[in-house]
Amino acid sequence: MKKTKLVRKTEVAVTPDRKTSRIPGFYRLSVEQRLAFLARAFNLTDDQIAQLRDGSALRVRHAVNMVENTVGVFGLPLGLGLNFVVDDREYLVPMAIEEASIIAAVSKGALLIREGGGFVSTVDDPVMIGQVQVLDLDDPEKAAAILANHKSEILDIANSADPKMKARGGGVLDIETRILDGGDVGRMLIVHLLCNVCEAMGANAVNSMCEAAGPRIAKLTGGRVNLRILSNFADRRLARACFSLPVKHLSAGTSQGHEIAKKVVEASRFAEVDPYRAATHNKGIFNGIGAAALAFGQDWRAIEAGGHAYAVRKGQYRGLATYRIEDDNLIGEIELPLQVGWVGGAVNSHPGVRILRAISGVQNSRELSGLLASVGLAQNFAACLALCTDGIQKGHMALHARSVAVSVGVAPDDVEKVALEMIKRGDVKVSAAEEIFRNMCRQPVVDRLERDLPVKSFAKGKVVLFGEHATVYGYPGIITTIDLGMRVRIKSDSHGPRFLNPQFKQAFPVPTSDSDFRLFSRAADAALEYYGLQNEPIAIEVESNLVPGMGLGSSAAFSVALCEALRKYKGSTVESHWNSRMFEEAQRL
Ligand code: MEV
Repeated sequence: MKKTKLVRKTEVAVTPDRKTSRIPGFYRLSVEQRLAFLARAFNLTDDQIAQLRDGSALRVRHAVNMVENTVGVFGLPLGLGLNFVVDDREYLVPMAIEEASIIAAVSKGALLIREGGGFVSTVDDPVMIGQVQVLDLDDPEKAAAILANHKSEILDIANSADPKMKARGGGVLDIETRILDGGDVGRMLIVHLLCNVCEAMGANAVNSMCEAAGPRIAKLTGGRVNLRILSNFADRRLARACFSLPVKHLSAGTSQGHEIAKKVVEASRFAEVDPYRAATHNKGIFNGIGAAALAFGQDWRAIEAGGHAYAVRKGQYRGLATYRIEDDNLIGEIELPLQVGWVGGAVNSHPGVRILRAISGVQNSRELSGLLASVGLAQNFAACLALCTDGIQKGHMALHARSVAVSVGVAPDDVEKVALEMIKRGDVKVSAAEEIFRNMCRQPVVDRLERDLPVKSFAKGKVVLFGEHATVYGYPGIITTIDLGMRVRIKSDSHGPRFLNPQFKQAFPVPTSDSDFRLFSRAADAALEYYGLQNEPIAIEVESNLVPGMGLGSSAAFSVALCEALRKYKGSTVESHWNSRMFEEAQRL
């Protein structure tokens, strides 16, 4: 591995409004508080915040232009990896991933590494390789020599496929040839076009260049050209990150710190000599790199393919991150190909990527490569530390239990309690979480309400006096409101969001899986999401004197009263009287 020198740059470049990626207590904030923090720190608009919260930046109207047979948009949790300092710059790392504990672990790894001054990265020029496969050659060696003599002609033809790349200072710089034995298909000549792709990931440009050069290569060699395609084994485009951490930071004292560092080194050697361990070691690295690459709109499959090919380049699959001890310091290093783009691809078509880039502070593809390498190393370091000390299950289980509790609608303040109870029982499942939470909710409802908020709304029911069926055929009917209706009150409730039914002294989390309340819950869930209140500590108390299912408009009254109450709760300045906006909102439910 080319050594990355641990020389720190003197410049400390931090943007004025993003002085640090160290945000103690970020995990304790509610989602709304975290979003408010981001809005302030990065001047994000309400619309951008709503896009982050709801994952709605990518609309189906964008998606139809990205893939074929589009039927929708798929969501993933989005979080921020914290505490990163790379080359003396502070970075928040957006990460999209479904696996619990990845973001907490990477932030923990980065926090420790920060104690030693953070990461130092080096990144190669963005040179990608395009391959042209030539077959049916009588003399492949002679064909290679002919191509070497016509190098500048081939470069010109290849570059004519993307003149702008050349104008930007990039383009195909060189060609190389390899002769491989293809067994039953005979010996083949493989021509590599080495292309500096500037700020692009480069797949499209390089593929076009290979296709442009293919016919001339066939003619010059007298062979038959088959594949013309980029190689994802981007070993000319490596990124490296390293850190040096005084071992005293690994534990309360230096001697225990040495003990832990030694175990991390032992784990490193295990992955260097055993492909079975190396595969898991590298899986952990790509937990971090893949999640961040996805949030940055990158082709994470290309990055992973390149990483795995690099891991086996010496004939045996090995861990990509390694550790050693020097004096009283643990040194961690990673080196892998990172084919990332700052222009083109999903970067342009996914509006959410633009917001996340602004939050991260990354400015170009080189910086992104250094950051991704650091993320991979931090993720691996955190995993190795956990494996060498408590074992992975402790942290995993705690987080997994929390996410199970959240998934069944446990109120934010109760998540910890429900999770701990599941771990105590050794039963971390949806059914256990539901049962524990149900028992907690059976405590008297009134005692659990903290204070009333002055938010109430009322929507009237209706009766059709004449023409109920005639209206179906387009004839007029006579309809009137009645004074009976649906009353909705929003109250503070640390266990919310949930429903309260004061009549029957019942409480239900939102969303609920209880079949009697599922439809009711679905409407409330949609409304809470629409108003961005999914994690709000509130109770929705509903009282009705409309008999449901009798044509008295109870569903419509519920939707209208709920929308009005949530709008008032959000502090909307719009008056609570009926208006067309409210009509649209209620219609959604
Ligand atoms: C789990 O997703 C990843 C780990 O298995 C990685 C490792 O073992 O190094 C924890």
